[in-house]
This record gives sequence, C-alpha cells and structure tokens, in this order.
Amino acid sequence: MSNETLSNLSREERRFPPSEDFAANANLKEEAYERAANDLEGFWAEQAERLSWDQKWERVLDWDNRPFAKWFVGGKLNAAYNCVDRHVEAGHGDKVAFHWVGEPVDDTRTITYAEMKDEVCKAANALQELGVSTGDRVAIYMPMIPEAVIAMLACARIGAPHTVVFGGFSADALASRLVDCNAKAVITADGGYRRGAPAALKPAVDEARAKTAAQGHTVEKVLVVRRTGQDLGENGWDDAVDVWWHDAVDKASPEHTCEFFDAEHPLYVMYTSGTTGKPKGILHTTGGYLVGASYTHWAVFDLKPETDVYWCTADIGWVTGHSYIVYGPMANGTTQVLYEGTPDSPERGRWWKIIQDHGVTTFYTAPTAIRSFMKQGREIPDRFDMSSLKLLGSVGEPINPEAYIWYRQVIGGDRVPVVDTWWQTETGSIMISPLPGVTHGKPGSAMTAIPGVSADVVNDEGESVPNGSGGYLVLTQPWPAMLRTIWGDDDRFKDTYWSRFAKQGYYFAGDGAKKDEDGDIWVLGRVDDVMNVAGHRLSTTEIESALVSHPKVAEAAVVGAKDEDTGQAVCAFVILREEAGDGGEDIVAELRQHVRKEIGPIATPRQIMIVAELPKTRSGKIMRRLLRDVAEHREIGDVTTLADSSVMDLISQGLSSGK
Ligand code: WTA
Repeated sequence: MSNETLSNLSREERRFPPSEDFAANANLKEEAYERAANDLEGFWAEQAERLSWDQKWERVLDWDNRPFAKWFVGGKLNAAYNCVDRHVEAGHGDKVAFHWVGEPVDDTRTITYAEMKDEVCKAANALQELGVSTGDRVAIYMPMIPEAVIAMLACARIGAPHTVVFGGFSADALASRLVDCNAKAVITADGGYRRGAPAALKPAVDEARAKTAAQGHTVEKVLVVRRTGQDLGENGWDDAVDVWWHDAVDKASPEHTCEFFDAEHPLYVMYTSGTTGKPKGILHTTGGYLVGASYTHWAVFDLKPETDVYWCTADIGWVTGHSYIVYGPMANGTTQVLYEGTPDSPERGRWWKIIQDHGVTTFYTAPTAIRSFMKQGREIPDRFDMSSLKLLGSVGEPINPEAYIWYRQVIGGDRVPVVDTWWQTETGSIMISPLPGVTHGKPGSAMTAIPGVSADVVNDEGESVPNGSGGYLVLTQPWPAMLRTIWGDDDRFKDTYWSRFAKQGYYFAGDGAKKDEDGDIWVLGRVDDVMNVAGHRLSTTEIESALVSHPKVAEAAVVGAKDEDTGQAVCAFVILREEAGDGGEDIVAELRQHVRKEIGPIATPRQIMIVAELPKTRSGKIMRRLLRDVAEHREIGDVTTLADSSVMDLISQGLSSGK
C-alpha cells in the first residue's frame, strides 16, 4: 500500500456521532472495551449468561490444543430451546417472532414464538420419525419461507447438524455439499417465488441425489414443503424417499422434550464459495456460537427486544442468515421481518414499503444492494415513510463512503447510526464494527474490534503496523463463535487460517486492511483482490470507491490485469447511472481523470470499460476472476456460480462492438 494511497483514504473527514439520546440509552457503553480487555474470559462468561444452560460450563476457554478451541467446556444447552422455548416459558409466547412477507403481494403470515415452538417441535418429531438421529447431517435447500427457519431449529433441537445450501445454487453445488458432509436427509420445497414467478427447487434435489448416488452416497429422505404448488415433473416424486412436509410435520405432535447437548456439539456446517477446488465446510458448534451470535446482535444492533422490529435481508443460505436471522435474533427473542423475494418485485420500492408497513426499526443489508438502489435514484425510497428506522447495518463487503452517505441520508433520514460490520462465515459473528451508541462512525471504515474481540493489521512478519499503514487483517485472540475446523479437513483448517502467522498464533482472515491515523480499521477487500502496480499495492475496492464517487457512476468493479511494464495494471468495468445516459463522448477520460484526482496517478485505470451489468454470484459478490479473464483477453472461465450467466456474453459483445 503506497503512502500516497493511504493519505488519500484518510482524507475522509466526515464523522457521525450517535445522538445524545441514542448514546444515553445504548446497550453497550464505552467502558465495555476496557472491561473485556482486562478480563476476556470473564467478559465472555458474562455474555454467556444471556443464554439458558442446562448445565453450566466448568471452564470458559480451553485453548491448550491450538488452533482447536473449546469454549464453555462442560456446559450443556440446546440451541432451539434457547431460540424458542425459553421465550414461551418466560411468558412471551404471544410475541411475534416473524412477520413473514411472501413475494406475491398480500401473501403474508404472522408467527408468534408460541407457534414457532409448536412448529419446531413438530418438525423435530417428524425428522426423528424419518430416521434422523443426533449427529446425522441434514441439508436444507429452501426458499425464504418460515419452514426454512423451522427446519434449521428442528435440526438443532435434535442435535443433527444442518448444512443450508443457498436456493440459488445449482444441483452440482448441492451434490458436492451433500457428499462432503455425508448428509442423510434433505429438506426442501417444490419451489419459491422469485421476481414474480415460481422458481423450482425440488428438481435440483432430484438431480443432486442422482449425482451423489453415482458416487455411492445415499440421501435417505427428502422432506418437501409445498410452497408454490408447481408441477414436479414426470419423475418428480419417489415414494421411497420423498415425503411431504404437510404429511409428516403437520401430523406430528407439538410435544417434544429436548435433549441438552455439549457446548461443543456441532450445530452446523456452512460451505463457503469463491475459492477454487473443493468447497470448505465451516464447522460451528453450539455454545460459543450462540453466545457470539446473541451478544453481537444485542450489542451491535442495540437491540431493544420490547419495541424493535428487526429486518435482515440476507438469505438463510448464507452465514448472515444463520447468525442474524435465526440464531442471534431468535436467542434474543426478537420480532423480525422475513421476506421471500427480490428487492424489486413487483416494483422497485418493495423493500421500503415493507419497512413502512411493518415499522422496521433496524435494517441490515449489503452494500451491493445499497448501490443498486442508488443507481435507481432517491425518488423511489423517498415515496415511503421510513421514520420508524433507528439503526442501519451493512455487511459483506467494504461499503464505499458514497454508498454509506446515501444509505444514511436517503434511507436513514440523516438521523440514525450506520454500523459497517466486518466478519466472515468463519468468524460466526460480527468482529469489527462501530458500537452504535459509542462510536463516531466514519463512512467507509468498519472502525474497531467490538468489546471481546481483538483485531490488528500486521505486516508480512506479523508485526502490528503503525497507524497510517496497511497490511493483513488478523484476529489476535480466540473468540467464542470462531470456526472449530473445516469439516473433515483439520489440516486445511490449520493451513488456511493459522499457518500464515503461526509464530504469533494469529487467525489470518485473508483480507487486506489499513489503520488510519486514528487507528481505525479500513477493510480493503480480499488479499487476492489486491493489485500490485509498479510495486505499489492498490486495493480494487479503493479504486471502485473512487469511481463510484463520480456522479455519473452507479457501480464499478476493478481488477488487476497482467501488464508487461508494471506487473499489473488497473482495469475498471463501470455501470453508469440511468440519468447519465451513455456518459458522453469523453466519459472514459473523465473517469480516468477522476480516479487520478481521488487517489493519485498510480491508481489511474489503464482501461475503463462501460458495461450494462457486472458478473455477480448469487450472493451479490462481483466475480472479478471473470473480469480478469476479459481484461487479460483470455477465454472466459467457469461461469456456473454466476447469478445470471448471460452477463458475460453481454460484456464480451459490448467490447467487440467497440462500446
Ligand atoms: C468481506 C459475510 C469489508 C471480507 C459475513 C470478508 C467485508 C468476507 C465486510 C467474508 C465489511 C464482509 N467490510 N469487507 N463490513 N463484511 N466482508 O464469509 O472480505 O460471506 O473476508 O461472510 O466478506 O464473506 P462471508
């Protein structure tokens, strides 16, 4: 990272302190940082008290066999009991757990905690009846319907680790996950609604099952929710394997006595995408994970369980849906919105209408969504009353300052704190984030590790870099929700996360970051997305952010392409805002000049291509690998994980027609 680049990033001088009122009523105050630093285990033990334990732990942390941690050793608990039963037992059975909003307009359901308890118990009984026992793995491949949450909690209740596979993944992706964790059963639906039409899921399960059978793997049972009522196809039902949810679950008893499991009992396996080769099955266990999810949800979102209506737009197929729809919020007895569909169906204001209709107070989404709304213009959100909002969150990628400001001003009415939360599938819960009642937020910075977490930015030797410098993001102390291993591959676990800074014993996150002059952390993106241009390190994110700050630009993706002179050169793919039309004749020169001005000559893109779309995975991440192929004039690689595989054709055609 060049000093020039760093000083430019540090130019961000806007600060957003919480209002006096917010600060005074905040769940977590400034003193928590010191309290946690002085007694880390004591602090986490205190957080663990927010759960119900059948048997209390004997030891908070066993870190003897590094990097294999055990938290709350000897403790026993049940995750589903903590997320549902105990709220009912405490007299909150009538409290709404979910305001569920189906994609078809007016297709809604309201589900209380008491109803959730009955449904989870019925599903747990049904699963056991189908032969699923403690320790068996169950795959879940579902749309965003209440049964998806019920299925996860039913698995947790009987101690059968779930592996949720995002419904947008292909049959191939599902098959490889089924085989990797040797799943005994699959829970799915006939389909779900996406962009106004039913999208089938069950046929992909059939296909995946055939693929795994060819590898000697048997899926014994497939439990199917009828959601859309769509035709399952000619060979779409196998009586020996397939069971309707409404037959098995609806008829099961709502009484189910739960067993309490060891704190280290596996809760779930979540596969991460994006890496080459075999997907990595990230293993989370019960006690530490639930403590991490519940504490962070309470602290970072300043949860007021009596009055808040919380909405996280993530899909339960990703870790964000696990920690911040199911486990964290439900352990905390939160009232939530759960939405099935896409943000723009049937119209572009759908999300804002949901916020208005349900009086959402706390909203958690991803920068990529925010940028696409920016592109459409503020007239759309401005039509809705979103005065119920009191906090906004962002996750998944660095949020560029312009998007942060737009989010805060247009969605948050310039009143509410924005928390930019950094974490990973592997970390299980939020690690770096502002505390909304304490931190004076800076647009673009995730700020500092939350109380109980220790993060740093280090150089190649693992030494902490001084303020104003960049390096690798590491976590220097264990934390309860940390991954325990990669499913079936302890060596890969050690190698991927713990070998880079083995001497210091740090967890290597794979992200580049910098500390600004105040010591606040700016996450710059994956280290593999960091370019080296003429010996200077440049972040793709940073250049994208510069491009997006230009008034004509809606979205940008930057890759480092091989260059004979400089090693790598910056190549940018840019989507213009609708109102900018084609940008004018000199748009490319204008943007190059803009980047020079924003960051410095070193960052000037060698090439800027104006495109209509960017290739994104189904989780919204830009696939820079494919753009690198275009920039380096290679044949375009594997496009199977793209949300829309025709995008690459559009980009290639646009280039060959000289646009
Ligand atoms: C990136 C999602 C900057 C980062 C919870 C990380 C972020 C990866 C942020 C994990 C953020 C996530 N600012 N970058 N606030 N949040 N990332 O496993 O590169 O899907 O390593 O977990 O997303 O992605 P994952």
